[in-house]
Amino acid sequence: MVDIPDILARKRDGEELTQSDFNLICNEINSAHPAQLGAFAMACTINGLSENETALLTEAMLYSGASFKQEKGRVDKHSTGGVGDKMSIVLAPALAAAGATVPMLAGRGLAHTGGTIDKLESIPGFNTGLTLEEMEASHCFISRQTDEIAPADSALYATRDITGTVPQIGLITSSIISKKAAEGLEKLVLDVKCGRAAFMKTEKDARELAESMVKAGKSLSIDVCAQITRMDHPIGRYVGNAHEIFECIQCLQGHGPDDTMELVYMQADALGYDIRPHIKDGTALGEFRDMCVRQGVDEMVANMLIADPWSVLPKAEQEIKIHSKESGYITDIDALLIGEYMCRLGAGRTGQEEKLDHGIGLEITFPVGSYVEEGECIAVLNIPSGVDTSQLPMMYEAFKFGSVQPKHEPRLIDTVK
Ligand code: URA
Repeated sequence: MVDIPDILARKRDGEELTQSDFNLICNEINSAHPAQLGAFAMACTINGLSENETALLTEAMLYSGASFKQEKGRVDKHSTGGVGDKMSIVLAPALAAAGATVPMLAGRGLAHTGGTIDKLESIPGFNTGLTLEEMEASHCFISRQTDEIAPADSALYATRDITGTVPQIGLITSSIISKKAAEGLEKLVLDVKCGRAAFMKTEKDARELAESMVKAGKSLSIDVCAQITRMDHPIGRYVGNAHEIFECIQCLQGHGPDDTMELVYMQADALGYDIRPHIKDGTALGEFRDMCVRQGVDEMVANMLIADPWSVLPKAEQEIKIHSKESGYITDIDALLIGEYMCRLGAGRTGQEEKLDHGIGLEITFPVGSYVEEGECIAVLNIPSGVDTSQLPMMYEAFKFGSVQPKHEPRLIDTVK
């Protein structure tokens, strides 16, 4: 009879594993010895996973837990993470307003990248831990992965995190796609970010991940496409948890920055929904408000959130204005430096358990391409009083100036279908 040591030996020797091999690993993941999981992740990393193995592992992970029935009209997106990456919070209610069902399972931020769940938790009362029954009853939610959904992914990811085996394309693919497939989706759009503040630094790596995820999604009959997008400059004008919720409300009110709305519209279009009229007539904003209430926010707080966001959202009390040290065009705003600095201040986490300060955030007052005079305010930082600001020069370093206006670059690099 096949057992885990036998599967590990075959993977070590470069053999292709089968569906029953992956099923056995995923079904016994909680009783397997931690060394066996580490060996599995390392053997997959060193020898790679073929396209077929990636599809089989994705399926095994999906069926290791609960899943929703696949139905027409169920749609979602996934982003590989960036700085100022807040589009899910705009997209989900806007898609719902356009008639879609949006069962969005989202994650927390790690390192310099923010997480949708952390951002939503800056709204007083917002419950990001819905039960399966609550998810089933809702036509639009954003919640955390529960213990019931793709448990094999949670166990394997925890192992990968401590064994240097996170950055393997097949393992990343199966981890992401198994959770999305559990949502019972008809369509999925993937935002695969590429650039200095992205998980994938080069276009080649981003394309490889995009192609792998599209193939794995299709193997589970999901209509999936990936958009490879630039992640060198922060998205939108605000970075930080409550700050990004503030900007999402602006987007839903039709006042979102061009680059953010470009991404949101592109994602909705890829899913087959025109959300523009729903942003314009306020129904998308209404869906956002209703989603907040369904997920635990008091009705009065939800109404205040829409009418005057900063009356309910936390904002750190100390305001530091960053002034331009020269006159010229802003040629670059380094999203990685900004993300890392925000993370160090306490807006992001460097370990799984770390607590965040949702009120820490940054407003960028001029986007790349703007002309500014020396001494003009280019950014406003909100931090708690008493916080160490010795690394504030990092913030200045993030802005670069020049005498020539840089060419506008659209966020989209390419689409993979
Ligand atoms: N996000 C996931 O959910 N899984 C990975 O493996 C990497 C990023």
